[in-house]
Order: sequence, then C-alpha cells, then structure tokens
Amino acid sequence: MSKDLNKLKELRNKFIKYYENSTIRKNVPAAKVSDFWKRVHSSTEKKGGDLFIPEKALSDIGDWTAKGRTMGLPRGNKKNWFDKSIKRVEAGNIPFDFINSLIESEHLLNDKFEHPKLDGKYSGYFILNAGTAYGFTKYLDRYFDRKSPLKIAEIGSGLGDLSYMLMQLYNINKYTYIDLAPTALLCMLNILQIYEDDHELIDKEHTGNCKLNWCIPENLEFIDDKFDVIINVASLQEMSLDNVNSYIDWVKAHLSENGIFISMNHYERGEVTKAREYRFHEFDILEMDKNYRRLTNGLVDVVMKLKTDSKEYDLDLLDEVYHELVKNKPLNKDKINKLLK
Ligand SMILES: C[S@@+](CC[C@H](N)C(=O)[O-])C[C@H]1O[C@@H](n2cnc3c(N)ncnc32)[C@H](O)[C@@H]1O
Repeated sequence: MSKDLNKLKELRNKFIKYYENSTIRKNVPAAKVSDFWKRVHSSTEKKGGDLFIPEKALSDIGDWTAKGRTMGLPRGNKKNWFDKSIKRVEAGNIPFDFINSLIESEHLLNDKFEHPKLDGKYSGYFILNAGTAYGFTKYLDRYFDRKSPLKIAEIGSGLGDLSYMLMQLYNINKYTYIDLAPTALLCMLNILQIYEDDHELIDKEHTGNCKLNWCIPENLEFIDDKFDVIINVASLQEMSLDNVNSYIDWVKAHLSENGIFISMNHYERGEVTKAREYRFHEFDILEMDKNYRRLTNGLVDVVMKLKTDSKEYDLDLLDEVYHELVKNKPLNKDKINKLLK
C-alpha cells in the first residue's frame, strides 16, 4: 500500500468516526436533509452505491466520484457534460485565458477532455467551477485586495474545486468547508492531497482554528470565528426552509464587520419559492446580477454585507426582480437600482 493510500485511509477513518460522534445532533435544523438531497442520497443507495466512499475505492477516487456518487453529478455521458460546460462558459464570456490559468485537482474526477481553446485536459465540473470562480473575482476584487489575508467559509462546498481555484487566486489564510457528511469527506480527501496544511474537523472541542476546517451541519454551532467572505453556490436552492433559516442566522452571526456574503442560487429544487424566503433583505444588498450559470432556471448573484442602516426593502420588488433573473429575463438595471437605492 502506498504512503498516500495509507494517508487517505487514515483520513477516511478519522472522518467516519467524527461523523458517528456527531449523529447525536442529527436533528439540528441545518442537518435535516431536504427532500431533494434525500432523493439524491436514496437513489445512490438504491443503485447499490455507498454514501461514504468505501475504503476499497480510495485507490481510485476519481473513478468512484466520476460515477456520480454523493454529489449527484450527472451519471450519463461525461463528454456531453463537458461540452455543455464549454458552451456555458462561452455564452457567459468567461475568458479561456482565465480558465487556462487555473489548475484542476488531479484527485477527484477522471473524466477529463480536450478542447482547442484549452491548454490541457479538464473535466466538465472544473470548467463549470472555473466560470463560477471568474464570477467571484468580479466581486471579491471590488471589496478586497488580492494580497490581503482572507478568511472564507463556504456553505455547501461540494468537492472543494471552487476553494482550490480561489486559493490559487487569493491570499487565503483560513477556509472552512460546510457540507453534508458524505460530500464533506470527499472534499477533505481531495483538498488534503493537494495541501499539507493543518486541518481540523469541527466539533465541540475543535472550533475551526486551522487553515483548513471541515464542518458537517450537525456541528454548525461550534464554529467559533467570523469570516471576511461567506459563500454559497447552488446549494441554498436545494435545501429545506429549516436548513436555509439556520444558515442565514449563522451567516448573520459569523460575517465580520466588513465581510461580504455572496449567494449564487435560484430556487424551486428545495423549499424556497421566492427571494424573500432567503432573507436577503435582512442584509444590506450591495449588488444583484445574473450569474453565467443557467439551466432551466438561472442562478442569481446577490452580494450582501451586514445591515448597517434601517433601510427597508420592498419585498414584492425583491421577489419580482429575483424571479425575472431566475427566469432568464433580461437584466432590468432600473428595477434593480430602485430596489437597492
Ligand atoms: C449542487 S451542489 C453544489 C456544490 C458546489 N457549491 C458547486 O457549485 O458545485 C449542492 C451542495 O449542497 C450541499 N448541501 C445540501 N444540503 C446541505 C445542508 N443542509 N448543509 C450543507 N450542505 C448541504 C450538498 O451536499 C452539495 O454539496
């Protein structure tokens, strides 16, 4: 057995123990899995798949993950998915120079393909996330210097690809990943093969003081820090209202004074049916724009900071503007300005 495989085995065992010790809190609101994610998980199990990557699959995590376990990644033709991601970044004017400047993790996905505009082979998932990372540079560069140290927390961090891209672009001195246990495990196995940094699994005794920290929703209350940036991409949209409310309360308590909270979500997969249920109006909304990522529904970028004045938003207008963007209607700047003024 190679040294790396031993390390992965150790990390996996440590994580599973961490999860088992935390199940006592499985009924906290952030951890009550939405019907959408119950379906994803139960379809994985019905097809004979394990929710947690089995020990025997650790020698080829890329193959196991590519089969769409846990993350609900499309199981079908991965080349189609890659082609679709290319079309999306092209439609969103994401520069290929930017995509080519990023490195993809070697560890998670085996389905990598070539394209004349790309310098190497990449997966569809990487291309999709590279587009998202580009969107983040647009906002982060407005509020932070690339050299200043940043503490980031990501809710629904998936396999960790976005974090790896942001670490290539910014001076990040802490990244805290929050996700359901089976996905958080994969994310940790991915990131800790790239970085040797100190890390922690957050619980009552470990409150997230390392450079890299993982937290499952069961232990959300134990995170003891404030963050410059809190991120949520395509995941509040798949959560229950219980989940959403507990995360919004958490963001309000854990965003630093000058920090920003960025949501890139639509709705209709989870329980939220209108923008006000995301409680964006409980923050100062700094910007609202179309995200480049659009399926049937488009994702909407909302950039927020902690509320500093007594401004009241017109909630009907908030719902209307957000709905138009979700439904891929043209961006109506006047309406957005009216909402935000
Ligand atoms: C569509 S994936 C998006 C992942 C990643 N942000 C991306 O853009 O590729 C949604 C993520 O939300 C996570 N998630 C679902 N319910 C959650 C909850 N209650 N707490 C934390 N994460 C959750 C899922 O496990 C999954 O990683």
